Amino acid sequence: MTKVTTGATMSLDGYIADASHGGFEYLFQWYENGDVETPTADPELTFRTSATSARHLRALTERTGALVVGRRLFDITSGWGGRHPLDVPVVVVTHSVPEGWAPENDSFVFVTDGIESAIARAKAIAGDKEVGVNGGTIAAQVVEAGLLDEVHVDLVPVLLGAGIPLFADLKIAPLQLDGPFSVVEGDGVTHLAYRVRPAA
Ligand SMILES: NC(=O)c1ccc[n+]([C@@H]2O[C@H](COP(=O)([O-])OP(=O)(O)OC[C@H]3O[C@@H](n4cnc5c(N)ncnc54)[C@H](OP(=O)(O)O)[C@@H]3O)[C@@H](O)[C@H]2O)c1
Repeated sequence: MTKVTTGATMSLDGYIADASHGGFEYLFQWYENGDVETPTADPELTFRTSATSARHLRALTERTGALVVGRRLFDITSGWGGRHPLDVPVVVVTHSVPEGWAPENDSFVFVTDGIESAIARAKAIAGDKEVGVNGGTIAAQVVEAGLLDEVHVDLVPVLLGAGIPLFADLKIAPLQLDGPFSVVEGDGVTHLAYRVRPAA
């Protein structure tokens, strides 16, 4: 069975992004606060973290077979220059295929018929590996559809005050998770993992 997980770097007050109030850059300091290098598929992007966080990143890379993100992230990153840094195909949930892009190629698949279709497509691509789902409204839609297995959080000690929460506009709250089943202390970040309880 292909596992579906969501993972994000999150502030202590629960936000994964904060475009309007600033402070977003504090979330990602742990990616460059150490001396152990983790290369990515982007030759210009190498993470420099503590040894503990480098092991965490390596494990993430090894177990991920496909990603599901919203169109907003695809647009913000300009399609990561053509290939995601994790070097896996990305399924983009959108209402329309962006101009100048094929509906699918080895790096991107644009799915226009909803979240369940996007997860099914990503599972087929990932095979035995995991599907990683972006936080925000995408993670909320996936857990609402009963398709999310685990939640992974890289918790950073900063308070942003406002922004996009890990599960935005969740319609099935309150929802209790099991765990944490993994707690790994990095430098300026704590890597946590929880299981979503299967529906009764
Ligand atoms: N902290 C972290 O670790 C981290 C890591 C990565 C990203 N982020 C942040 O995560 C945030 C969320 O990014 P995201 O783009 O993945 O999600 P998003 O902002 O929720 O994407 C929203 C867009 O995706 C499309 N969409 C979403 N659900 C859809 C559906 N069911 N059917 C059709 N289209 C749908 C729509 O675009 P259209 O209507 O235009 O098609 C919608 O406007 C970003 O702000 C990003 O900066 C944080």
